[in-house]
Amino acid sequence: MAKRGSILVVDDEEIMRDVLETLLSAEGYRVELAKTGEEGLECYGRRAFDVVLMDVSMPGMGGLRALEEILKVDAEAVVIVITAYATFDTAIGAWERGAFGCVRKPFQNEQILATVAAGIKRRRKDEERHNLRRAMSRSVERGSIIGHSERMQSVFQLVDQVAPARSTVLITGESGTGKELIAKAIHEQSTRAGRPFVTVNSSNIPSELLESELFGHTRGAFTGAVAAKKGLFEVADGGSLFLDEIGDIPPETQARLLRVLQEREFTPLGDTTPRKVDVRIVAATNVDLKEAVRQGSFREDLYYRLAVVPIELPPLRERREDILPLAQHFIRKYDEENSRDISDQLSPEVLALLEQYTWPGNVRELENVMERAVVIAPGDEVTRQCLPAEIADPSKAMSAAPLSGAGVALDVSHGINFYDEVRRFEIDLIRRALDQTGGHQSRAARLLGMNPTTLNSKIKTYNIQLRQ
Ligand SMILES: Nc1ncnc2c1ncn2[C@@H]1O[C@H](COP(=O)(O)OP(=O)(O)OP(=O)(O)O)[C@@H](O)[C@H]1O
Ligand SMILES: [Mg+2]
Repeated sequence: MAKRGSILVVDDEEIMRDVLETLLSAEGYRVELAKTGEEGLECYGRRAFDVVLMDVSMPGMGGLRALEEILKVDAEAVVIVITAYATFDTAIGAWERGAFGCVRKPFQNEQILATVAAGIKRRRKDEERHNLRRAMSRSVERGSIIGHSERMQSVFQLVDQVAPARSTVLITGESGTGKELIAKAIHEQSTRAGRPFVTVNSSNIPSELLESELFGHTRGAFTGAVAAKKGLFEVADGGSLFLDEIGDIPPETQARLLRVLQEREFTPLGDTTPRKVDVRIVAATNVDLKEAVRQGSFREDLYYRLAVVPIELPPLRERREDILPLAQHFIRKYDEENSRDISDQLSPEVLALLEQYTWPGNVRELENVMERAVVIAPGDEVTRQCLPAEIADPSKAMSAAPLSGAGVALDVSHGINFYDEVRRFEIDLIRRALDQTGGHQSRAARLLGMNPTTLNSKIKTYNIQLRQ
C-alpha cells in the first residue's frame, strides 16, 4: 500500500509504541518512534512529520511540554495527544496548548486511525494554502514590491515587458508612490542586473555640479577641478542610470542630456573627444512633465526621448486594496527591525481608518506611519492610538491646525496620541539639526546619526521646508 504520510509516535511504554507502529504501518503510514518528549522533539527538529501521536504522561519533559515545544518549531504541527487520564481538564489543557486532538487510553484502533486521518487532511490543507500563498505572492510581490491592485499588476506586467530591452523608461507618479523601487526592479530584471545601477538625484545637486557629476571632467576643466573625475554616465556603463527628479534639471543640462540620449556618447567637461557608453536610462519625476513642456520649462524633444516607455504609478488612494497588504508588509518589516512582536493582523477599526485616509504622501507615508506604530505600540498590536491624529480622528483632523513642530499644545481629550508625540519630537530634532548645519542635509544626517536617504525621506514625509 502506498505510504500516505509520516507519523511520529512519542511514548515511553514499549508496548504502546509497538501497537501503534504495527497499526499505522499496516495502513501505509511511515512511522518513527521516540521514547521520551525530548527524543520526540529532537526527531521533529530534524524533519517535520505530518502527525505526531504524543503520550501525555512520560518521565522527563512530559507530553504537554513536548507538545508546546514542537509547536514552537512548527506552528502548524498536528499533534494528537494520548492520555490514560482523559479527564475533561487534560483534554482542555491539551487543546489550549494547541493539540489537534486528544485520544483516551485504552483506545479503539478505528478511533486512532480516524483522528490520524483527520490530522493528515488538515496538514495537507495547510500545505496547499502555503503553496497557494507562495504562488500568489510570486505574482503580487516582486521581491518586496507589493501590489495586489489591478493597476499595480499592470505596472508589473509592463516592467516585465520592458526590463530586457534598452529602451528609456519614464516613471511618473506622486511623491512616495514607489518610482525608485520600480526603477530598481527594471534594472534587476534586465540583463544588466550584474552591472551598476547608478542614481542621480537632480534636485539634490546644485545645477553647476550636475553636469560634472553626469559627464565627469578633466583635470583643470574648471577652478577647483584638481583631478579628473569620471562622470556617472561612465560609472554606469553597461548598467542603468536612474535620473531621479528629472523635472528639476536646468535647461542647459537638458540640452546636453538630449545629445547623450540621441548619440549614446558624451564628452566630459574640459575634454574634446566624445566617449561611447552603453547605458540604460530610467528617469522619474513627480511633476507633470507635459505641463512643464507646455510652460516651456522642459524641452519637448527631451520629453519624447525619455518617455519612450512611460510607466505611471497610481497614487495609493486610487488603489485602496493595496493598503492592507502594504501595511502588513511594513509591520512585519519594522517588527523584525525593532525586535518587537507586533501582530500583522489589523483590527477592523484600524483597517477602516487606514483605508479611509487619502495618503497624500502615498506608500512612503504609509510606511512611516506603520514604522512608528510598530515602535510605539504599547501592546502586541497596532491600535488606533498608534496612528497620527489625521488618520485616527478624521473628523477632528479637518478642523485641526496643521502640526507645526514643537510647541503645539497636546490634545488630551481622548488620551495621548503616541504617534503625534513622536512626530513632533522628530520634526523638532530634524529642524534643529538642519538649522545647526545651515540646511546641509548630509551633515544634518550625520548629526542625527541617520542615513542621509532616511533623512531626505523624512523631510519629504513631514514636508519640512528647506531654506534655499
Ligand atoms: N509597492 C510597494 N511595495 C513596498 N514598498 C513600497 C512600494 N511602493 C513604495 N514603497 C516604499 O515606499 C517608500 C517610497 O518609495 P520610493 O522612494 O520608490 O518613492 P518615489 O516615488 O521615488 O518617491 P519620491 O517622488 O518622493 O522620490 C520606499 O521606502 C519604498 O520602499
Ligand atoms: Mg524617488
